[in-house]
Amino acid sequence: AAKTEFDVATVEAGQLVVIQWQGKPVFVVNRTEEYLKEVDGHDAMLKDPNSEAIEAVTAEWMTPENRKYRSIKPEYLIVVASCTHLGCIPLFKPTAGRKEWGESVPEDWPGGWHCPCHGSLYDISARVINGSPAPHNLHVMPYKYLTDTKVVIG
Ligand code: FES
Repeated sequence: AAKTEFDVATVEAGQLVVIQWQGKPVFVVNRTEEYLKEVDGHDAMLKDPNSEAIEAVTAEWMTPENRKYRSIKPEYLIVVASCTHLGCIPLFKPTAGRKEWGESVPEDWPGGWHCPCHGSLYDISARVINGSPAPHNLHVMPYKYLTDTKVVIG
């Protein structure tokens, strides 16, 4: 299967870019300190806080220390950009964006992604929030770092 190379240093702090891998969109997020703080404190809201249901493929680096980050380097999250309900592309609504959302989402949702199709919510590690129609966290595909910032996906 085709691999995709990408330099994560091209993503500005706090930003998300969408790249293509095997014809599928993939999110790459440069998570700031502020975003990384948002991975803690809401495990009780998550369907699968440790991603035990779907991520055997990444088990070699998915150690207890980085399970909550769901990435090799905490600051760069790389996940398939497809809602695990019916495949829509979720909208990025990190901490800063959440303030605009007001009453339509749970008050204690820490921000992350919102799926426009049927309302699934994910946190900033793309873990699905209880009550969402999506059954699973957004998928993490196999990838590795070739250099300090260059990754190969697939
Ligand atoms: Fe995302 Fe249904 S496709 S909630």
